[in-house]
Amino acid sequence: MLKTLAISNYRSLQEIVMPLERLNLVTGGNGSGKSNIYKALRLLAETASGGVISALAKEGGLESTYWAGPKAITNAMRRGDVDIQGNQKIGNKRLKLGFASDDFGYSVALGITPPVPYPSAFNLDPEIKRESIWQGNHYRPASALVERKDAMVKVREGRKWQVVNQHVPMYESMFTQVADPSKAPEVLAMREYVKNWRFYDHFRTDVDAPARQPQLGTRTTVMSHDGSDLAAALQTIIEIGDEAGLNEAIDQAFPGANIAIKVSEDGLFSLLFQQHGLLRPLTGKELSDGTLRFLLWVAALLTPRPPSLMVINEPETSLHPDLLPALAKLIIKASQSTQVWVVSHSDTLISELQYHGECHCIQLDKQFGQTLIQGQDLLTTPSWHWPS
Ligand SMILES: Nc1ncnc2c1ncn2[C@@H]1O[C@H](COP(=O)(O)OP(=O)(O)O)[C@@H](O)[C@H]1O
Ligand SMILES: [Mg+2]
Repeated sequence: MLKTLAISNYRSLQEIVMPLERLNLVTGGNGSGKSNIYKALRLLAETASGGVISALAKEGGLESTYWAGPKAITNAMRRGDVDIQGNQKIGNKRLKLGFASDDFGYSVALGITPPVPYPSAFNLDPEIKRESIWQGNHYRPASALVERKDAMVKVREGRKWQVVNQHVPMYESMFTQVADPSKAPEVLAMREYVKNWRFYDHFRTDVDAPARQPQLGTRTTVMSHDGSDLAAALQTIIEIGDEAGLNEAIDQAFPGANIAIKVSEDGLFSLLFQQHGLLRPLTGKELSDGTLRFLLWVAALLTPRPPSLMVINEPETSLHPDLLPALAKLIIKASQSTQVWVVSHSDTLISELQYHGECHCIQLDKQFGQTLIQGQDLLTTPSWHWPS
């Protein structure tokens, strides 16, 4: 289980170290940085699958994702005696992301490429400058197991270090380059752990949404991010998963309703939703946005193969408040078999989660443009050191 998440220099998250529990609920006003934390977690996951650089490019490049404030806000700046002004050179700036469980931790630092002396279209590409894997809940040089500095990766072997790769491209994570189970088993284990994280963000429910279309189905223990395999995922839950939980969730949300999956002769799976009072079931195309979205959450949260971490962003979006108690129940249930991270600003969902679950609430606040965790002090901040 993830115990600590640390982010430095990413958008409004200038420096944040966050303790985590089984069920985590991130709340806060508009613009407090909730989505920034979600995106930072996604970037960490992209690192493991080798896509961090293109993910950053899609966000407008590293330069735009850097914390836009000064490195330090001095007391004089706070009082307003002097203007807020920058005090760090671009070349030294790093975007840093890291996490730790009780046993292991990982961190990555990204920076801008020094301009090459010839004309290049890639002059603003970020580079991976530093990566580390260590033993224990925070980094110490003595507990490091794998260190990457620029293009070189070395692995601890007893009291010595062994270089396993000297030519890791600066735009690639060591996860994609050093995954030899005999030389660096820690890299492989960490990569598999992070690759297993699952993210669900605003599902599409417009008329052309993939979730509304009949789809070829195979056993689907993990619903895709866009919900295109919704029918197959629900059928899998019915056959090998928590069918009782599925029926209970649907009955709580839509009393008297139930679902069935129709499989056509050519193998297309489609969803049928039988509602109390109607003479025939509705098909995926006919469902209301809210109903479809609720069914997507059911399929995501009742997965028969729980991930190591499930991150869900504003699941309340376009759901009727009546559905939120049933949604909260599903989230709490999911947290019994996986670590869950919910970003929400729905008061109903928040109070349902707090009332019924053992929920770790992280309330965000913003001061001088910087996201802070409300009520956090030195005692409640987990130990964290970035590799130098
Ligand atoms: N590069 C940046 N540096 C500092 N702050 C930023 C940067 N990019 C975005 N922000 C701030 O992040 C905030 C948006 O945070 P977001 O996580 O989307 O909020 P919400 O909590 O509503 O999801 C905006 O208010 C903006 O001021
Ligand atoms: Mg947001």
